[in-house]
Amino acid sequence: MIRAAIFDAYGTLLDVHSAMARHAGRLGPHWQALSAEWRAKQLEYTWVRSLSGPAHHRDFSVLTDQALDWVAARHGISDPGLLADLRASYRALQAYPEVPVMLAGLGMPRAILSNGEPAMLAEGVRAAGIAGLLDDVLSVEAVGIFKPDPRVYALATARFGFEAGEMAFVSSNPWDAFGALTAGFRVFWVNRNRLPDEYGLRGNVTELNDLTGFKP
Ligand code: LAC
Repeated sequence: MIRAAIFDAYGTLLDVHSAMARHAGRLGPHWQALSAEWRAKQLEYTWVRSLSGPAHHRDFSVLTDQALDWVAARHGISDPGLLADLRASYRALQAYPEVPVMLAGLGMPRAILSNGEPAMLAEGVRAAGIAGLLDDVLSVEAVGIFKPDPRVYALATARFGFEAGEMAFVSSNPWDAFGALTAGFRVFWVNRNRLPDEYGLRGNVTELNDLTGFKP
């Protein structure tokens, strides 16, 4: 029996590509590739910081901005107004359309567990209109290291006092789903783009197309 549901934030509840989508006209026809590159660099920076040790930790907000700066430099995007708008948009991402109704109908305690730092998460859930639908928003900043470090997933079990095996962990990020699986959670992989299996998830997790009607 599942007694609580834990959700990844960026890419799972919040559409990370909605930031560049909002300014697509100013970014040009390749905005989706730029957005994918921003996301990939952002995540790379989290893993490198985690492996480099605690003295080198920087929060997700800083790394998100650094990743954008790199993408902008690479592609010759120099308009400071556009860059400021993109940074602001990342702090006000859209939830995927089915998310508010799904959270409202969940019928069990629920929280976010995210790489995000607390202020950007608070702004994010408020802007997406889901702040009131969550019991808590847990940030990796409590342990100062990023997913998939096991100390991150332990924040969720400590918060609710349930065994990991009594909790659903929901993520669209295969590497995050794998981290939760190794920590013992019942994992739900939101594979919106029907991507191939990674980390041997298939068969060990429940695969979803999106979060419509999600009830663990
Ligand atoms: C998060 C990252 C994985 O929200 O997007 O934790």
